[in-house]
Amino acid sequence: KVSPQIAAPLLAWYDAEARVLPWRAPPGSPAPANDPAGPYRVWLSEVMLQQTQVATVIPYFERWTARWPDFASLAAADDAEVMSMWAGLGYYARARNLLKGARAVVAEHGGRLPDTEAALLTIPGIGAYTAAAIAAIAFGRRAVVVDGNVERVVARLLAIETPMPAVKPAIRAATDSITPDVRAGDFAQAMMDLGSRICTPRNPKCLLCPIAGPCAARMEGAPERYPVKAAK
Ligand code: ADE
Repeated sequence: KVSPQIAAPLLAWYDAEARVLPWRAPPGSPAPANDPAGPYRVWLSEVMLQQTQVATVIPYFERWTARWPDFASLAAADDAEVMSMWAGLGYYARARNLLKGARAVVAEHGGRLPDTEAALLTIPGIGAYTAAAIAAIAFGRRAVVVDGNVERVVARLLAIETPMPAVKPAIRAATDSITPDVRAGDFAQAMMDLGSRICTPRNPKCLLCPIAGPCAARMEGAPERYPVKAAK
């Protein structure tokens, strides 16, 4: 199932090149699940990153975690203060859901985030993407994590001709087939970093890419063609 041709060089690249981000454990370290703040920080960061760039998120993440470092403190927070802390990030339903989610974690899960995708999906505000990301990154579970960056990387790797959005199920299946059983969280974050720094929408830096060797789109000489856009 695992394709070592992809995961091994990608993880080696991540070990050397991972962006240092305030919610990340160092590459290769055990999942931060035994640190009660670990899953909280992963959850918060994934929600903040849903519609917002990493560089914008960092200062918000730092202010938020200084004020509310864990589920218990957030659950007890004043709604209006939470909304004002969020001001500027947009999509305000995310902030309301964070508060609802923290209160559910405290009321129904003893203040600890559950550690499986299925249980995470029962928390208000956690959808399929976020459940997979938290299961992999915070708890080291194998989960298939597909965001926009990962879609682009995988569509190129396999030169999948089906246009967006019809291609999404094929991309999910392909991501599943290359996701390793161990270090699934590092693998997911490596794919995200690759998509944002190397396998960019325009002018991808194939010369620096750790998985350029097996990449079908690079072999064709036209990586930017993927993912193919639907005809208008
Ligand atoms: N975008 C969404 N989640 C991310 C993460 N964990 N690291 C970097 N970018 C991300």
